[in-house]
Amino acid sequence: MNPSPNPEALFSSGGQHKKKALSSQFAKDVIHGFSRHPKAVSSQYFYDKPGDKIFQQIMNMPEYYLTRSEHEILSRQRKDICTAFNAFDEAFNLIEFGAGDGYKTKLLLSFLLESGADFTYYPVDISQHILDELSKSLQNEIPGLRVKPLNLEYFSALSKLSEMSKRRNVVLFLGSNIGNFSYNSAGGFLRRLSWYCKKDDMLLLGVDLKKDPKIITRAYDDPHGITAAFNLNLLERMNRELGADFVLSGFTHHTFYEPLSGKVLSYLVSLKQQTVSFSFLDWEVDFDEFELVHTEISKKYSIPELEILAQQQGFQVLKHFTDEKKYFLDTLWKVK
Ligand code: AVI
Repeated sequence: MNPSPNPEALFSSGGQHKKKALSSQFAKDVIHGFSRHPKAVSSQYFYDKPGDKIFQQIMNMPEYYLTRSEHEILSRQRKDICTAFNAFDEAFNLIEFGAGDGYKTKLLLSFLLESGADFTYYPVDISQHILDELSKSLQNEIPGLRVKPLNLEYFSALSKLSEMSKRRNVVLFLGSNIGNFSYNSAGGFLRRLSWYCKKDDMLLLGVDLKKDPKIITRAYDDPHGITAAFNLNLLERMNRELGADFVLSGFTHHTFYEPLSGKVLSYLVSLKQQTVSFSFLDWEVDFDEFELVHTEISKKYSIPELEILAQQQGFQVLKHFTDEKKYFLDTLWKVK
């Protein structure tokens, strides 16, 4: 293993881009992730501008059933969902973690507004660009909606909101984003969420359910090569932002589903023995032939497993909403 970069050497060799690259959290996480065995890079780094675009293409693929299934739930059952979170009884804050383009949430927002619910929508995202785009489209599509974007990390947003408002909170965490945590990290995340919320605050959680393994495998190993491009974009991002010299044809996307654990595990595989230089970091990393870099976990749940998770982390399960094929679940929980 090559030693970590020497900060003094970096600064003496100059260049603002180098300083910026080295001080970035991305660089720190890449150095850490490539210095361990097996190598790993967090899937949070998929989502730069090109990555966001590829993810849009994934969501439009026929094989990626998740977005369509959740859209079906929110469009067909929005009345029941909003009624279940007491939307028409008292004023509330509707907070969305990782709001994205709001494609599915707009179904709930327009229904709530038309039905006269008293609420403010707080989309939370660490990308100001995403929040700006979302605010613009909401202004056009749902005029009259009260929107207050929060450009903060999720829990900082909740703590800021608790200073600003005493209203009841309903948190949306949709799109199977919880699946990108391991079971233990999901537990930690939900426990923390319950600490930041008040008793009777609610969570609507979007979860991908266990199903025929072939259907899940196809969603992550598509014949168009779009998910492969999404995974390989991690290396391109390192080339762009850290001055790395990855040759993409030297790596391949590998993904598989483990039905017992419910995990889809995604990797990049080095197709040969190779050394990659990071010019902005004055650093090199060696890859063995067929060495794996773990890049993503996409966990699928059974309903009983989720109910145990809710119970263990301080929530009471109120109601489950599924699509017709029972591929996806939006589950409504209340803080105990
Ligand atoms: C964002 N997240 C829920 C997606 C998933 O299904 O795990 C990301 C993704 N990765 C490959 N395809 C889609």
